[in-house]
Amino acid sequence: MTITSTTPSAGNSLYGGVTNRRVTVRDLASAKARGERWPMLTAYDALTARVFDEAGIPVLLVGDSAANVVYGYDTTLPVTMDELVPLTAAVSRSTQRALVVADLPFGSYQSSPQQALESASRFMKEGRAQAVKLEGGHAVAPQVELLVSAGIPVMAHLGLTPQSVNTLGGYRVQGRGEAAAGLLKDAKEMERAGAFAVVLECVPAEVAAQVTEQLSVPTVGIGAGPSTDAQVLVWQDMAGLSPKVAKFVKTYANLHETLRDAASAYADEVVNGTFPEERHSYTG
Ligand code: KIV
Repeated sequence: MTITSTTPSAGNSLYGGVTNRRVTVRDLASAKARGERWPMLTAYDALTARVFDEAGIPVLLVGDSAANVVYGYDTTLPVTMDELVPLTAAVSRSTQRALVVADLPFGSYQSSPQQALESASRFMKEGRAQAVKLEGGHAVAPQVELLVSAGIPVMAHLGLTPQSVNTLGGYRVQGRGEAAAGLLKDAKEMERAGAFAVVLECVPAEVAAQVTEQLSVPTVGIGAGPSTDAQVLVWQDMAGLSPKVAKFVKTYANLHETLRDAASAYADEVVNGTFPEERHSYTG
């Protein structure tokens, strides 16, 4: 066991600071107290997780969006624990600094706090995650309470909760008009239950700003405007690999084009015999 300093980030910023150990939920709380914003990305495999760790992204989420971007399902509902746990283990093994958060998939926590504890324990033991995330407000407060009391940090997820796409009637903005009060109430309930952060997905910017102001734990926005304490994006959206992205996404690279061009260049060279060259070959 390594004993760490009681001053979580020793005066350093979260992004770019804390280089000699993993980021903790205490560091995130300190960042909120300092008014410091931080970035979060999804990750699902060893090599990209390592790149994001090197880039200093302090929190990596092994999202159930793996259902879409890794497994090719059209919603997040079909993805299972058995499909997500190995991805979480790969991300944990290949990172040294980022706090790794594992998403509890649909059907793995809703039926009871006990079920949530069993599922979360697999992510902590087999996936070596440092925290889990689950979707929903008031209805899952008992789950959050039990996990936190068992020593498992929980990130809550409100607003557009993709696991509820069938009851929401599609992927639409949540918390507009009178629904804003309900969202704020759920956010406060998650904080009371012990969540260390709350994701706000696809909610009006002014509602996210109000929730952020009223919570003492950090909010993490995705399609929630500029006022949340942190931002999260699915990495394939951020890097321009996804074929189609939502209005709230900004792409910082064009990996789709880069990879397609690389694949075409490779294929051309194989066909015309210019790859492999002598320097790529072994001699007897
Ligand atoms: O699964 C996921 O990637 C997520 C984020 C988009 C918040 O839940």
